[in-house]
Amino acid sequence: MKALVKAKAEPGLWLTDVPEPALGPDEVLIKVLRTGICGTDLHIRAYDGWAQQAVRTPLVLGHEFVGEVVDVAPGVTGIAPGDQVSGEGHLVCGTCRNCLAGRRHLCRSTVGLGIGRDGAFAEYVTLPAANVWVHRVPVDPDVAAIFDPFGNAVHTALSFPLVGEDVLITGAGPIGIMAAAVARHAGARNVMITDVSPYRLELAERVGVSLALDVRTSTIEDGQRSLGLREGFDVGLEMSGRPEALREMVANMTHGGKIALLGLPTEEFAVDFARIVTSMITLKGIYGREMYETWYAMSVLLEGGLDLSPVITGRYSYRDFDEAFDEAAGGRCGKVILDWTA
Ligand SMILES: NC(=O)c1ccc[n+]([C@@H]2O[C@H](COP(=O)([O-])OP(=O)(O)OC[C@H]3O[C@@H](n4cnc5c(N)ncnc54)[C@H](O)[C@@H]3O)[C@@H](O)[C@H]2O)c1
Ligand SMILES: [Zn+2]
Ligand SMILES: [Zn+2]
Repeated sequence: MKALVKAKAEPGLWLTDVPEPALGPDEVLIKVLRTGICGTDLHIRAYDGWAQQAVRTPLVLGHEFVGEVVDVAPGVTGIAPGDQVSGEGHLVCGTCRNCLAGRRHLCRSTVGLGIGRDGAFAEYVTLPAANVWVHRVPVDPDVAAIFDPFGNAVHTALSFPLVGEDVLITGAGPIGIMAAAVARHAGARNVMITDVSPYRLELAERVGVSLALDVRTSTIEDGQRSLGLREGFDVGLEMSGRPEALREMVANMTHGGKIALLGLPTEEFAVDFARIVTSMITLKGIYGREMYETWYAMSVLLEGGLDLSPVITGRYSYRDFDEAFDEAAGGRCGKVILDWTA
């Protein structure tokens, strides 16, 4: 089968023929239909410092996908050939304290699909049945392909109650924009999103934010003023990984405000901890998706009318992967999708 492979320990990706994966015990074999390109995949293509320590070659990339089940191992129930499925890309150990307690998102031995083992940028992928999410109500295939980052957005956005709250999101990447759509849908009063890219701020406006603010030309305090806020934001969702964004967020929270952090900084940095202490701000790190409460929430949010279509801006055949990756790396885009059937 065709697969997009990190074949050599150097920058680049190679579209090559690899053996079809064999169905193991408790596994599901899936024909991949569409995949989403993630920042992680860009790091692996570029083979930067993180990728050099995280990845062993050869490796089939990819963790964001939708497909159709073609076969299930004996004993697997509730999943059948023909089902439309996405996959939870965190494979957990099942035996650590958190796994045993049902808190699988907190597993200390997580292996990443397309990072620590072969992934979904291929015509077929196998996954443990426990990692397969069946779309019981059919989902638009482009949206189903990005359930993984949509789950990051939902996990972060629903970390704290949002009804009637004023929400600040720093970073209007695809995940920040999806989080804005979720916050709106969940009943926030104001949703303000920030970025340094006019293209992305305009994309964010299409999901109905109260204010999309360019922090190169305005401060978050200016934004507060134009929304008529008097005491700061109640909930912050950090989705840029940038030190200055978190610092500004902390400075603009109300007392008792709550911050969920998804953005992954590349290095250590200072923040005003005295302010966090005296304003009694809660900080919560977010990794991945809750298994499977976040997945349940994603499916029912879509059934309830949440519209993610504005966030998908690029569609390519898998054969044109280099062009698609260039677009994703360029940043003038939302999510970029690869079609494995064209
Ligand atoms: N914790 C997790 O499980 C997890 C999972 C996926 C992604 N992530 C991280 O979440 C973040 C969002 O993911 P994404 O795919 O949307 O990433 P992205 O890189 O596409 O988006 C980040 C956005 O932040 C913007 N930005 C840069 N400086 C800024 C500033 N000072 N203020 C506001 N915005 C600024 C960028 O222009 C960009 O649009 C990334 O940091 C990513 O690494 C974390
Ligand atoms: Zn991803
Ligand atoms: Zn575990």
